[in-house]
Amino acid sequence: MKKIIKLTAALAMALALVFAFTACGGSDEEKEAAAVKTVTEGELHMATNAAFPPYEMTSDDGGFEGIDVEIAEAIAKKLDLKLVVDDMDFTSVITSVQSGKEDIAMAGLTVNEERKKNVDFTETYAKGVQSIIVTEDSDIKKPADLKGKKIGCQDGTTGYIYCSEDFGDKNVTSYNNGATAVQALIGGKVDAVVIDNNPAKEFVKSNKGLKLLDTAYAEEDYAIGINKDSKDLYEAVNGALKELKEDGTVDKIVDKYIKAE
Ligand code: ARG
Repeated sequence: MKKIIKLTAALAMALALVFAFTACGGSDEEKEAAAVKTVTEGELHMATNAAFPPYEMTSDDGGFEGIDVEIAEAIAKKLDLKLVVDDMDFTSVITSVQSGKEDIAMAGLTVNEERKKNVDFTETYAKGVQSIIVTEDSDIKKPADLKGKKIGCQDGTTGYIYCSEDFGDKNVTSYNNGATAVQALIGGKVDAVVIDNNPAKEFVKSNKGLKLLDTAYAEEDYAIGINKDSKDLYEAVNGALKELKEDGTVDKIVDKYIKAE
């Protein structure tokens, strides 16, 4: 008899719980996951250019890895979505989100006024520093020395924009990605490459005869770009990113890829 009473009590409690749950429509997190609309149901499509280590690059098994990829994976998980990485030219990253083909633009993407007209940016999650790579024997010692020199940049990047403004269009050659710009420097076609500092460090590490100048050229913030009409998705992604920053996940991911010197 005692057993039966215990059982009914447990049942009643369980029922009460179910009621309370349905009455308030589930937890906030669940509501978020159920409501958020993406380009393909159940998936979060990330537009990127995966030649930008340590933020995004191809992995040995043919997939993608890097800081942005792992942060996006953690965001997708929170929203109960499957992350799909779509690799493309850097110049298509923002336009593909703007035209509604992709959900998020995440590519070590610098926030600037021009881009803010085309997409909404989340909170920032990392800092970027435009840096200068030269050959070891170069006479270029500081940003001002770039005057009159041939500069290589990745097409459509802030590095390209600053250099063409500061040193003139005709002195800047744009390349499809950072690695090809670096090959041009090694081949003597340009005198310097201007690119974000962490990719720059990776390129210097993996190629002989190059060095990074100590003086930074410009400092900037990285954030995720989202279609201006996707307000729900914006709230969901920004909210998830905020949580991942607060609970230390973002720091942990950054530390995994960028070892302190
Ligand atoms: N931070 C620079 C910019 O936003 C360069 C980004 C390049 N990113 C890439 N995944 N290739 O313009």
